[in-house]
Amino acid sequence: MSDGYYNSKKTDDICEEVCGQASWAALTMSRLRCMLRGFDIKTYIFLLVVIPVFIFGIYLHGQKITYFLRPIWESPPKPFHEIPHYYHENVTMETLCSLHGWKIRESPRRVFDAVLFSNEIDILKLRWNELYPYITQFVLLESNSTFTGLPKPLIFASNRLEFKFIEPRLTYGMIGGRFKKGENPFVEEAYQRVALDQLIRIAGIEDDDLLIMSDVDEIPSAHTINLLRWCDGVPPVIHLQLRNYLYSFEYHVDNKSWRASVHRYKTGKTRYAHYRQADVILSDAGWHCSFCFRHIREFIFKMKAYSHTDRVRFSHYLNPKRIQDVICRGADLFDMIPEEYTFKEIIGKMGPIPHSYSAVHLPAYLLNNAEEYKYLLPGNCKRESG
Ligand SMILES: *[C@@H]1O[C@H](CO)[C@@H](O)[C@H](O)[C@H]1NC(C)=O
Ligand SMILES: *[C@@H]1O[C@H](CO)[C@@H](O)[C@H](O)[C@H]1NC(C)=O
Ligand SMILES: *[C@@H]1O[C@H](CO)[C@@H](O)[C@H](O)[C@H]1NC(C)=O
Repeated sequence: MSDGYYNSKKTDDICEEVCGQASWAALTMSRLRCMLRGFDIKTYIFLLVVIPVFIFGIYLHGQKITYFLRPIWESPPKPFHEIPHYYHENVTMETLCSLHGWKIRESPRRVFDAVLFSNEIDILKLRWNELYPYITQFVLLESNSTFTGLPKPLIFASNRLEFKFIEPRLTYGMIGGRFKKGENPFVEEAYQRVALDQLIRIAGIEDDDLLIMSDVDEIPSAHTINLLRWCDGVPPVIHLQLRNYLYSFEYHVDNKSWRASVHRYKTGKTRYAHYRQADVILSDAGWHCSFCFRHIREFIFKMKAYSHTDRVRFSHYLNPKRIQDVICRGADLFDMIPEEYTFKEIIGKMGPIPHSYSAVHLPAYLLNNAEEYKYLLPGNCKRESG
């Protein structure tokens, strides 16, 4: 009778034959079968196979589907006006300023670098060494709560001795978390940014000083900050376009990081923020190294503390073996689809990030301490466990 499923004529015959005879139980069964025969077999397959698979698929890949369809429901933001960036170590500052259409100042502006710190100790060291010659005050705020409301050790405080070189220029602040259960992580983040605003004032910022607003892992190149502090005529708020890297400088994702910005400080007006605040962006102004951690446990911590915790959909995402494997392949920790606005870009970026073997134009401190920071350089994807 299994043949019957594929031949509707034969099915009818079988049905007639069975419906005429036999015991009560068999009769009921066969009646049922006869009734069901009335449906087209394709309808069955649809109801019993396709729909459950579809629902299971949405459960597994719902986020991927919405991201993939993003070009339909979301149009790209207005593009930035990208300012060409001129730099060579042998060109004078006067020439560099005038190439940008700006004028050289008699003395440079003071510069404040302010960050909210979570656990990126190595990247912080690269950042502060890179910017060291040009920063008046380093302002750092840390909390004993992650944005997602998990308790966090004061990692900067316990490593402070490693940062002796900036100690005379450091303004450090600690803020207690509010530990509100089930709250949107962006609320805690906004709360910490307001506290950072106060800390910047405590650090002694004044009108017309420059203030860098960026995450720890968004590192402006030193020459960029030197240019901005020496020239007059720079827009009052300017974003910095950074090269995006993931896990290390081996995986160069794109050149489109835009969140970092430099502000000419205005008391009562300038607010520390990490969203778009202007239309101008200076090209090729530094590096953004996301998830650039030495230990697997730091990846796990960050994945849990991250503002998009909804992305940790399955607990196996936090398995150390899987994380190591994902890093070495240049794949996505959250198994997500690239966040882009056109199908062409989404498809172009699917799959692992190609390896880059260029270590040209990276922070000087990294190359001068290559042994210590080996894991950030091409060819060293294996992380320290534990
Ligand atoms: C840079 O300037 C120095 C000193 O003027 C000179 O010796 C060197 O050749 C220059 N380098 C380049 C790459 O132009
Ligand atoms: C966080 O810090 C605040 C202020 O120092 C303190 O009152 C609170 O007990 C701390 N909470 C945790 C979980 O460490
Ligand atoms: C980023 O920009 C540099 C310099 O303009 C270019 O050589 C490189 O190919 C770009 N990389 C990517 C991944 O887009």
